[in-house]
Amino acid sequence: CRAIAKPKDLAGLRLTVTAGATQEALDPVRYLTNHSTGKMGYAIARAAVMRGAKVTLIHGQTALDPVRFAEDVPIVSAQEMYEAVAGRFDETDVLIMAAAVADYRPATVAGDKIKKSDGEMSIPLARTADILGTLGPKKTHQFICGFSMETRDLIENSSAKLHKKNLDMIVANNLKVEGAGFGVDTNVVTFVTGDGVRQLPLMSKADVADAILDEILARRSLF
Ligand code: CTP
Ligand code: CA
Repeated sequence: CRAIAKPKDLAGLRLTVTAGATQEALDPVRYLTNHSTGKMGYAIARAAVMRGAKVTLIHGQTALDPVRFAEDVPIVSAQEMYEAVAGRFDETDVLIMAAAVADYRPATVAGDKIKKSDGEMSIPLARTADILGTLGPKKTHQFICGFSMETRDLIENSSAKLHKKNLDMIVANNLKVEGAGFGVDTNVVTFVTGDGVRQLPLMSKADVADAILDEILARRSLF
């Protein structure tokens, strides 16, 4: 079985992994969210546990089985995810942000269900906290890996995020490529780092997870 075959090459490392979508409440019955299912982040957490890391998995609502032997931290909103990640940042050696965090939330949350009326309505939105944008510039010993999902200019946009958020690596996904993206069990990713880009072929998310951990381990030992 996979677990027995794995060398414990991440033993002693504390990994914080985020996964899934956040939900931003509008009223007691409605929220804004996105298509993330959490599969990629869960695959990374599972692979890291098998390789001996101490793993915390901070996640939005998903339909996935919990990752055995990982600390499980369910959250709802971007703000809650921010607090959960920031609260563990000092004790994190590697932060992998696979979660699809909402960029905006309804500016106010109605206490009662919003009733319909005739005509159009619009919802004022406010920015959420940018978790990596805030923590990246504050990193000390941490290796930080972000994700980037784009429909165009994948490498340019991802490199810009790498530098702006002071990250060590971005796993870039092109949503327009067959076999990549939401809900599926495969992915096509490109690693973007300060010294270049490396495109991986179509792989299962389990294999992508191991490839991400391999890359991080190799890069961390360069520190
Ligand atoms: N991210 C974050 N906090 C947010 C939004 C995103 O930490 N409020 C993280 C994501 O988890 C991901 C990385 O930042 O690892 C890039 O997310 P992405 O949505 O691709 O980039 P944004 O900076 O939000 O830019 P945009 O959505 O405009 O492309
Ligand atoms: Ca975003």
